[in-house]
Amino acid sequence: NKLIKWNGPKSEVYSPILTENSKGELDKTLLGTIPTLGEKEAISALDAASKAYNKGQGEWPTMKVADRIKCMEVFVEKMKAQREEVVKYLIWEICKNTASAEKEFDRTIDYINDTIEDYKQMDRDSARFEKNSGIHAHIRRGPLGVVLCLGPYNYPLNETFCLLIPALIMGNTTVFKPAKHGVLLISPLLKAFKESFPPGVVNVLYGRGRAVASPIMKDGRVDVLALIGHSSSANALQDLHPKANRLRLVLGLEAKNPAIVLPDADLDLAVSECIAGTLSYNGQRCTALKIVYVHENIAAEFNKRYTEAVDKLKYGNPWEEGVSLTPLPEPGKVDYIQDLIQDAKDKGATVINNRGGEVMGNFIFPAVLFPVNKDMKVYEEEQFGPVVPIRTFSNIDEPLDDIAESNYGQQVSLFGKEVKTLAPLIDTLVNLVCRVNLNSSCQRGPDVYPFTGRKDSAVSTLSVHDALRSFSIRTFVASKDN
Ligand code: G3H
Repeated sequence: NKLIKWNGPKSEVYSPILTENSKGELDKTLLGTIPTLGEKEAISALDAASKAYNKGQGEWPTMKVADRIKCMEVFVEKMKAQREEVVKYLIWEICKNTASAEKEFDRTIDYINDTIEDYKQMDRDSARFEKNSGIHAHIRRGPLGVVLCLGPYNYPLNETFCLLIPALIMGNTTVFKPAKHGVLLISPLLKAFKESFPPGVVNVLYGRGRAVASPIMKDGRVDVLALIGHSSSANALQDLHPKANRLRLVLGLEAKNPAIVLPDADLDLAVSECIAGTLSYNGQRCTALKIVYVHENIAAEFNKRYTEAVDKLKYGNPWEEGVSLTPLPEPGKVDYIQDLIQDAKDKGATVINNRGGEVMGNFIFPAVLFPVNKDMKVYEEEQFGPVVPIRTFSNIDEPLDDIAESNYGQQVSLFGKEVKTLAPLIDTLVNLVCRVNLNSSCQRGPDVYPFTGRKDSAVSTLSVHDALRSFSIRTFVASKDN
């Protein structure tokens, strides 16, 4: 909780948006600098979190519920005052259009307020006593210890806070590393952290994952690894911990959510939902639709309407009116998407929309690939970008078998009308994924609904309600009838 004056090395943070430099050439835009921290600073942040937790005896984990809520309420008020600044960074650092950037900020405020309300309810429930076989029990929930939080670049505010806030309110102490892209937007909030929570409770660490998160995990004092991002990062960090198999994991990982369009689907609805599902924020969402299965009888018509809709999407800089397609923040991402397109073309697919795959700087036009087969990289890999694979099916068992065999199991979108067909399909799909979206695209919200996944897609659940449980343990005081 100290705002440390840093005289060590710093890294420059550039926007993926190109602007004119002094020579009148298009160049990357410098947004600011951040301290480049290393092992020494990482361990000192862990020391602070560990000291503040003090094996469960620290001020924060033993604080009265009402006082911890007060700290959180103070924080949320201070955070609200930084809206403009944080939104500006969401636009410039990760190229969210203005509406999405504002939505991310407001949604995060709602998430914090809903978490506070749920925590109050949890506390009221814990005031109730249970009595069984002459034993009275006062059941509560308690913290787990020190939590390391790492969020993703696509929701650098919201998804980091979906980990951090429930972890904090349950009485854990935290070290958190902002996402690599979207790192600057945390800076306007540092003072709010410092002024709202006791020393050592929130520790923000700038730096590369390998330089700062790895030494923390190796140290062994972390009790919970909370990460939304790639399973390779989660696995590597978990493996470093000396008690890796005792570690509590709260993980939101990859997904390859499919849409299934049945022959009786309302095609206009299916197309507009698939557009939102596949290409909102250029497809850089874990909940994005990443493959579309269309029944062979309607494939030609679906493809025609879908590609017409793709061609109408407006591209440009994120602050421009009506823009939905924007530059990609990850270096190398454009090359990766081009590689997926080329691989699919080499193996028999065609780009069926205008300008699909055309590149301008850090921007690439969405490419709709048809027909996609299982040998193509885009069938298997989570593209997390603007490329849409479409497959046809004649028998519903084909997509069902593919989903059952997939490494992932987050969500599915199902488009159709006939209840007799839909009902048994839904019963099967809920055993393959965690959320079936009927005639609508996949999404995480509203944030009170469970956000989780089967197989490699998640460990633990992150709704407002569930997250409080993911970051705590049930404890109780038992007493006998006298
Ligand atoms: O990246 C995964 C996000 O949780 C997606 O959230 O469905 O609200 O865009 P969203």
